[in-house]
Amino acid sequence: MTASAVEIQSRTLAGYADASRLRQVQDRDWVLDQLTTAPQTLIDLGSGIGQLLQAALERFPGLRLAVGLERSEHRLAEAAERLRPYGARVALHRADLTVPEPLPHRAEVITQTSVLHWLHPDEERIFAWAAAHLAPGGRFLLTTYHPARDAHGLGGEDELVRDALVALGTPQDAVPGVFERGGVLPIAVRTRTTDDLARVLGPHLAVDGHLERDAVVTVESAEQYEHFHAATFGDYYSRLVPAEQRAAFFRAVGESAWRRQRERGHVSHMPVRLWQLTPR
Ligand SMILES: C[S@@+](CC[C@H](N)C(=O)[O-])C[C@H]1O[C@@H](n2cnc3c(N)ncnc32)[C@H](O)[C@@H]1O
Repeated sequence: MTASAVEIQSRTLAGYADASRLRQVQDRDWVLDQLTTAPQTLIDLGSGIGQLLQAALERFPGLRLAVGLERSEHRLAEAAERLRPYGARVALHRADLTVPEPLPHRAEVITQTSVLHWLHPDEERIFAWAAAHLAPGGRFLLTTYHPARDAHGLGGEDELVRDALVALGTPQDAVPGVFERGGVLPIAVRTRTTDDLARVLGPHLAVDGHLERDAVVTVESAEQYEHFHAATFGDYYSRLVPAEQRAAFFRAVGESAWRRQRERGHVSHMPVRLWQLTPR
C-alpha cells in the first residue's frame, strides 16, 4: 500500500512555512519585539526552518551570529536553504535538546518558541544549558503553550485527535487508554502548567517578567487543518492507528477542526506565555 501525500508530509514535517502561519509564526515577532538593542549573538533552540533566525538577521544588521539548534534534518536543510544569503552570520547545528551538548558561543539572547513541550520530561536540561550559554546580562525568551486539560490530561490538539479516533470507531471513553497503550503522552500533559514550569526552571533561571496572549487558531477548510496537523505534529498521534487507517485519520482531524470552526468561529484557543528569563 502506498502512503498518502499527507502521511509523507507527516514523516518529513514538510509544509511548515505555510502551516505555521496558523499559530507558531506569531510567537516569532512577539519574541523579537522584546529586544530593544541588537544582540551580537542569538541562539534559537528548536529553530525549525529558520524563520525566527531570518527575521532577527533582517531586523538587526548588527547581529553577527545567528545560531540554530534543531533535531529534524529535513527542517535543518530547509533552514540552510532559507539562510544561505546570510553566509557566515549563520551557524546551524543538528542537536537533540533533551541531551544538549555544550557550544563555544555565549549569546546575549537565547530564544525558544513552540518547542518546550517536545522536550518533556527532560526540560530541566535545556534550562541548565541556556543558563550556561547566556553572556553576562543576557536573556532567554521562551514561549510555552497551556491548553486546558480534562481529568485524563487531554486538551488542545488531543481533543481533535480524540474526535478523529471516535470517527474511526474508537468509543469516546476508550480514547485515554488508546493514548496510554500507544505510548502517546497527551500534549496537554507535556505542556505542564505555568506553576510546574516555574518549579522546573527555578534552579537555573530567574523569571524577570512574563507576557501572555491568547493563541486563537482559525481555518478556512478541513484540508488546511489536516496539513497544519501533519506539519506540526508529524506522526506523533497518527501512530495510534494502523497504517491502513492513517490517511483517514488525518482527514478526520481536519474534519473535526472544520466542524469546530463552523460551530465556534475558531478551532482552538489557549494561553501562551512569553517568559523573560535570566541566569541565576
Ligand atoms: C512546532 S516546531 C517550532 C519551530 C520554530 N521554533 C517555530 O516557532 O516555528 C517544533 C520544533 O522543535 C523541534 N524539536 C522537537 N524536539 C526536539 C529535540 N528534542 N531537539 C531539537 N529539536 C526538537 C522540531 O523538529 C520542530 O522543528
